Amino acid sequence: MATVTEIASGVYRINVVLPDRPVSYSLFLVDDASPTLIETSFSAVFDEVKMAVESVVDLKKIERIVVPHFEGDECGGLNDFLAAAPNAVAVCSPIGSSSIRDFTGKDPLVIADGEELVTGSKKLKFFLTPYVHAWDSLLAVEETQGTLFSSDLFIQPGHGKAFTDEDLSEQMVDLYKRIGLMPSMGHIRAALANMKDLDIRTIACHHGSVLTGNLEPYYRAIWEQDFTGLPETAAYSGPNLMDE
Ligand SMILES: [Fe+2]
Ligand SMILES: [Fe+2]
Repeated sequence: MATVTEIASGVYRINVVLPDRPVSYSLFLVDDASPTLIETSFSAVFDEVKMAVESVVDLKKIERIVVPHFEGDECGGLNDFLAAAPNAVAVCSPIGSSSIRDFTGKDPLVIADGEELVTGSKKLKFFLTPYVHAWDSLLAVEETQGTLFSSDLFIQPGHGKAFTDEDLSEQMVDLYKRIGLMPSMGHIRAALANMKDLDIRTIACHHGSVLTGNLEPYYRAIWEQDFTGLPETAAYSGPNLMDE
C-alpha cells in the first residue's frame, strides 16, 4: 500500500513500492489553496495512490497536476486523476504539450522556463531541463521551503526510508551507469546552472529517499562524474562499421 509522509510543511510524499523493480516510485502533493500534484505514478497503481492522496485532500479539489516528462511512472495515471479531479489541469513543458494533449484529450497548461505558479501560501517555480532525462523534461521547486522536485535526477536504488541525510551519491552514480538514463553531461550541467541561485534544502526524489542534510556530494557527483551515454551493458565496442 502506498505510504504518505509529510516532507515539508503541507508537502506530502506518496511512495509506491513494486517489489520486482530496482527503485521505488514517489509522487508529491502540495496541499495548499490550489492543491497540486507533482507526478501521478503509473495508471496500474492508481487505486492505491488515489487512497493515499485522499487521506490528505479531497481529489475533487486538486487544481494542477505537474508532469515532469511524458513517461508511465511520471504521468501514467494522469487520465485517471483528471477523471477523478474535474477541476484539474495538467502542467507540462512546451515540448511535452503535444503528447499530453493527445494522451488526455485536453489542453494542458504549458509552462515557460522560469515561470512561477502560486498555489496559495506556497510558490512553484519551473525550469525547462531538456534531456534530463527526457527531451520534454521540466523540474519544479517549491520556493518558500526550498524543496526541489527532482524527478529522475538524484535517483537512488532500493526501497529505502522516506528521508535520508546519508551520502548515497556513489550508489546514485552506479545506478545511472547501469541503466543509462541520462544522455549528456551538457544537458545536466545546463539544468544545474539554470537553478544555481536557488536555496534548495530538500530534494524530493521521484525514485529513492527524500534527501536532506548535506546535498553538496550529490551536486558534485552529478556535475563531475560522467554517467551519461549508453549503459555499461549496452556500450558499443565492436568494429568501426564505416571501415567495412
Ligand atoms: Fe523518467
Ligand atoms: Fe522515473
